[in-house]
Amino acid sequence: MSKLKAAVVGLGYWGPNLARNFQASPDFDLVGLCDLDTRRVEKVGASYPGAQRFTALADLFQTAKPEIVAVATPVATHHAIAKAALEAGCHVLCEKPLASTVKEAEELVELAEKRGRNLFVDHTFTYTGAVRAIQGLVEKGTLGDLFYIDSVRINLGLFQPDVDVIWDLAPHDLSILSYVVGKRVTGVRAMGTSHNPRNFNDVAYLDLEYENGLTAHLHLSWLSPVKVRRMIFTGSKSSVIFDDLEMSEKLKIYDHGVSFDVSDVEKRRQVLVNYRRGDMRAPALDNKEALGTELAEIAAHIRGTGKAAALGADGLEIVRVLEASQKSLAKDGAKVST
Ligand SMILES: NC(=O)c1ccc[n+]([C@@H]2O[C@H](COP(=O)([O-])OP(=O)(O)OC[C@H]3O[C@@H](n4cnc5c(N)ncnc54)[C@H](O)[C@@H]3O)[C@@H](O)[C@H]2O)c1
Repeated sequence: MSKLKAAVVGLGYWGPNLARNFQASPDFDLVGLCDLDTRRVEKVGASYPGAQRFTALADLFQTAKPEIVAVATPVATHHAIAKAALEAGCHVLCEKPLASTVKEAEELVELAEKRGRNLFVDHTFTYTGAVRAIQGLVEKGTLGDLFYIDSVRINLGLFQPDVDVIWDLAPHDLSILSYVVGKRVTGVRAMGTSHNPRNFNDVAYLDLEYENGLTAHLHLSWLSPVKVRRMIFTGSKSSVIFDDLEMSEKLKIYDHGVSFDVSDVEKRRQVLVNYRRGDMRAPALDNKEALGTELAEIAAHIRGTGKAAALGADGLEIVRVLEASQKSLAKDGAKVST
């Protein structure tokens, strides 16, 4: 099978990871690299002599003729670059979040549909062994009924030029939750504070309600002195903790829980709680690099032999929640429906 010609636009922090994975993939041929900044193009391009180097998008489309374009530029530019790529007849893999507004994201999804091209969004975590294992635990009923999910994603973060901490970090949690729970967010409450001169929220808390009544709580910060990447999925039968900073035991499944004895009216008044403490196990996980798995699934999707985990519609859902969070922030944390 012939390789699909790929290009990467945006060669800052994340773009080089995409370039490296396209280059290593048996499904793709990295034919083009593009960045407004000549120094970035030259620096990254030096590792990929087979890829042509560009500073203008139109030249990339015309000369390298990529079949898929990965967009790894700042969020505010996703819409214009993805739109230009779709109009040039390319499939698009756009970084998270898909766009800056619901309107822009909807436009991209519609344009891809109209042009018969695929729009993928880089929800990287949905291609990791850990997230796939959590989804399997939920699907098989190992956790029982999910009670709630708690996520902490904090560190001394890279302040982004065009988005606040919610738009930067929450797409990770939201895409993991959407993949694991398989339900839509119906309401969001957001609180945030800013401690920087640009007045962007650099610390935020999001409360999410899902259509099955499940709730999730996200704590996001660029100002924490320590890095924490931890999600707790608490269920009626067991719970799982996903610690992404752990090298070998990223998932720990705890056979711990509580049950409430409500069989007797008298006892109900006393709220009899039974605590169960069982074993903890840390399952072995597929630890392949997520972007490698992602590109293989994207190639299969384009060739009609498989389905990628995150399409334009998934990206749009996340942007819907982000926009609702913004509205909630403006209303001092009031609940906003999505
Ligand atoms: N999936 C992930 O885990 C993950 C991780 C980090 C960043 N990201 C996403 O990747 C994107 C880029 O983030 P980053 O941290 O690499 O940013 P960055 O600022 O380090 O790099 C962005 C690059 O885009 C270039 N650029 C800007 N406008 C351009 C244009 N119109 N045409 C061509 N090049 C242009 C800049 O010169 C810069 O080199 C963001 O959307 C971010 O959310 C995703």
